[in-house]
Amino acid sequence: MPEPKDLDAEKIKNNRKTVLIGSEVLVFDAVDSTNTLAKKYLQQKVQEGLVVIADSQTQGRGRLGRSWHSLPGMGLYLSAVLKPRVAPEHLSQLTLLAGVAAVLTVNEFTSQKVRLKWPNDILINGKKLAGILCEYCVFDNGDTGVILGIGINVNHTASDFPEELRTTATSLLLETGHRIDRLTLTLSLLEHLDQQYQAYLLGGEQGVIRQWAEHTDMFGKKVRITRGRESITGTATGLDSWGNLLLRTETGEEMAFDSGEVSLDLSG
Ligand code: BTN
Repeated sequence: MPEPKDLDAEKIKNNRKTVLIGSEVLVFDAVDSTNTLAKKYLQQKVQEGLVVIADSQTQGRGRLGRSWHSLPGMGLYLSAVLKPRVAPEHLSQLTLLAGVAAVLTVNEFTSQKVRLKWPNDILINGKKLAGILCEYCVFDNGDTGVILGIGINVNHTASDFPEELRTTATSLLLETGHRIDRLTLTLSLLEHLDQQYQAYLLGGEQGVIRQWAEHTDMFGKKVRITRGRESITGTATGLDSWGNLLLRTETGEEMAFDSGEVSLDLSG
C-alpha cells in the first residue's frame, strides 16, 4: 500500500530524537484503525516502541465506542505499542501521559492556549483538537501491552468536518491560519511521548499527574460525570495519586473517578 507522500517512515525513523518510541515505524495509506492494527502487531510480539501511522482510517475509534473522523491528508493518526510492566489500573496514567505529550507538541505549533479536559481531550478555545485512546491488551497466552493511540486534527478546514462536529471540533490550520507539516508534527509528538514515557518508567506517575494538572482549567469548575445511567454533578477539585478525577459533590462528599467508562461535561 503506498505511503502518504509527506509522512515517510524512513524519514521519521532517521530523524526521530527518541530512545524507544519510533524504533520501528510503519506508515500506511489507509487502515481500519491504527489502534486495531497496532494491537495485531503487539499480538505478533513486535518490539516495544513500534509506531503505526495512517493517512486515513476507515474505522477510527474514540473512547466510549465513538468513532474518530479520519479523512486522508488532514490529520495525524498514530498508535504506539508499549510494554510497560504495570497492571491495568495504571492505564489512565498512560492516557494522561499521552495528553501531556500532545499538549507540549501542539504548543510548538501555536501560541493559542491548549488545555486538557479529563481524561483525554486536547482543546483550544473549548474546541476539540485532539483525542487519545489508550488500550490495555491481554492475550490468551498471558502477554500484555498497551496501545497508545492519538488523533490530531491538523489541516482540516471547517467544511472538512462533518456538520455535527463543526461547532465542537477544531484543527491546527483553523487555529493558526496556516498548514502544518505533518512530518515535523509527528517527530515532535514522538519526542514528547518518548520523554514522558522514559520519565514515567524511571520516576513513576507523579510527574505526569503534576504536569497534567498544569495544563487544565477544569479544577474549581462544575462538571457532570455520566457513568452508565448514573449522572453525578460536582466541582472538580484535582487528580488523586492514581490520576483519578476528584469530584466534590453537592452534598460535600469527595468522589474519585477513573477514566474507564465515564464521560464528562463542563457544566459551568
Ligand atoms: C477520543 O477522543 O475519543 C479518542 C480519539 C482517538 C483517535 C485516535 S486516531 C489514532 C488511533 N486509532 C484509532 O482508531 N483511534 C486513535
